[in-house]
Amino acid sequence: MKGASTNICYNVLDRNVHEKKLGDKVAFYWEGNEPGETTQITYHELLVQVCQFSNVLRKQGIQKGDRVAIYMPMIPELVVAMLACARIGALHSIVFAGFSSESLCERILDSSCSLLITTDAFYRGEKLVNLKELADEALQKCQEKDFPVRCCIVVKHLGRAELGMGDSPSQSPPIKRSCPDVQISWNQGIDLWWHELMQEAGDECEPEWCDAEDPLFILYTSGSTGKPKGVVHTVGGYMLYVATTFKYVFDFHAEDVFWCTADIGWITGHSYVTYGPLANGATSVLFEGIPTYPDVNRLWSIVDKYKVTKFYTAPTAIRLLMKFGDEPVTKHSRASLQVLGTVGEPINPEAWLWYHQVVGAQRCPIVDTFWQTETGGHMLTPLPGATPMKPGSAVFKQPWPGIMRTVYGNHERFETTYFKKFPGYYVTGDGCRRDQDGYYWITGRIDDMLNVSGHLLSTAEVESALVEHEAVAEAAVVGHPHPVKGECLYCFVTLCDGHTFSPKLTEELKKQIREKIGPIATPDYIQNAPGLPKTRSGKIMRRVLRKIAQNDHDLGDTSTVADPSVISHLFSHRCLTIQ
Ligand code: WTA
Repeated sequence: MKGASTNICYNVLDRNVHEKKLGDKVAFYWEGNEPGETTQITYHELLVQVCQFSNVLRKQGIQKGDRVAIYMPMIPELVVAMLACARIGALHSIVFAGFSSESLCERILDSSCSLLITTDAFYRGEKLVNLKELADEALQKCQEKDFPVRCCIVVKHLGRAELGMGDSPSQSPPIKRSCPDVQISWNQGIDLWWHELMQEAGDECEPEWCDAEDPLFILYTSGSTGKPKGVVHTVGGYMLYVATTFKYVFDFHAEDVFWCTADIGWITGHSYVTYGPLANGATSVLFEGIPTYPDVNRLWSIVDKYKVTKFYTAPTAIRLLMKFGDEPVTKHSRASLQVLGTVGEPINPEAWLWYHQVVGAQRCPIVDTFWQTETGGHMLTPLPGATPMKPGSAVFKQPWPGIMRTVYGNHERFETTYFKKFPGYYVTGDGCRRDQDGYYWITGRIDDMLNVSGHLLSTAEVESALVEHEAVAEAAVVGHPHPVKGECLYCFVTLCDGHTFSPKLTEELKKQIREKIGPIATPDYIQNAPGLPKTRSGKIMRRVLRKIAQNDHDLGDTSTVADPSVISHLFSHRCLTIQ
């Protein structure tokens, strides 16, 4: 593909509008956090907005190859912003809006982003998230580290109603919120309102023609050293791969209504909310809310409302909803559903069977798709209708054009992380078992990574957040089985002299982790550990700690533990309930 030139935004929008005549087709049905708060956007409308915003970015001096950070909830402007970057050849670096200001700052610095796009605030269920405040904190931290970001574009989302503008995403009257409007602070000279810039922007914009191997975006994923890796995907290979996997894995047909519940802040959202469906001219649902707000009917009522045909979600959501029984599902029709998908973590057979029997009424094939941020798109999956299914397994597919090309700014880390262990092979970091029929069963991570609700976290990342607290001398974090999250965090902390373990300290440590990483990394258990099991060379034995957390006395060989007495102490002081 070297030497070919293309533009992914052109392919997913202009080509669909002008060549395929899909201009009037709905690209997204947007469903807000609050039921009744909805809008829809056609391919033509999306193209116009993307061109306008591309012009805005160019006017702000953004050029091909520049990095743009995006920190937004699931609103149509997020799609517009990412496609506009792609149109002008700038790399988007989307940071999930559940990450802390510290994480955002770290990512902005790592790829030296010259501009940030964010939002005033949003609701996640009943929780108000003052995103602008977090964005401000992040930019302040960047400034302190001698990296001033010169421009921050802010979408008025929560305050949208007061704009009274035609471009409000609420075609129906905006919902009156019980919560008072958030006050956001404004940095003169840096902050600019999205809607004001868009009003002045022209709606035609020539795409920047890119080499197939030009970078398209950066997306950070946890790394076992604790420092997130900026995974780089390129225009041509990624485009081909997400378009093809979307088409075949979900057995796409023109009349489908596709719904992937993942946030665009993760790779699943990049590939199967934005690029894959749009490349195929599909209609999708874009959902801002959560499965349990205002109640557990939400997902199935949306399925019925838009007659969703293909539905793609995470095992953690299935396990969460399973707890509420069959009735919230079965009281909805779900007749439109044809294919169900899962992604993000191994699905336990019980959840698979419930998904198949209750949600899919035994007539929908399940595609359990195993893949990674690094792979761009699906790697192992059954094909609907073509592969006899077994609960919890995934079937191998061919190697692929959509593989990441490098770790941003650190190609050596790319080579050592993925290609060193087995020369000539790409290592995912997951264990896998192949059964006698040739099915692959993913058994979980083989490195120091944890998978909490489908989100990868590194133990090192959480441990370093813990030891930054003045009371903590040493910390060790292990994964622990959790009925909904799949895995949760169980932390052992050794305190510095003069500090005592207390519920107040536990709260402080949790807060510390939320601030350093984000709410997804909040531990469920924190145990006081006057000593940790270590080898004689001083290496913490996480294998032993995992067993202690589970009260499993079958420790295997402990002859290498330097001081065995710490083990019995830890067993007798285990955390019995979630804190
Ligand atoms: C895990 C998400 C079992 C795995 C797309 C992988 C899975 C990591 C599955 C990547 C699955 C993802 N079955 N495990 N179907 N899908 N995983 O980068 O550990 O956020 O390496 O990409 O999630 O997570 P990431």
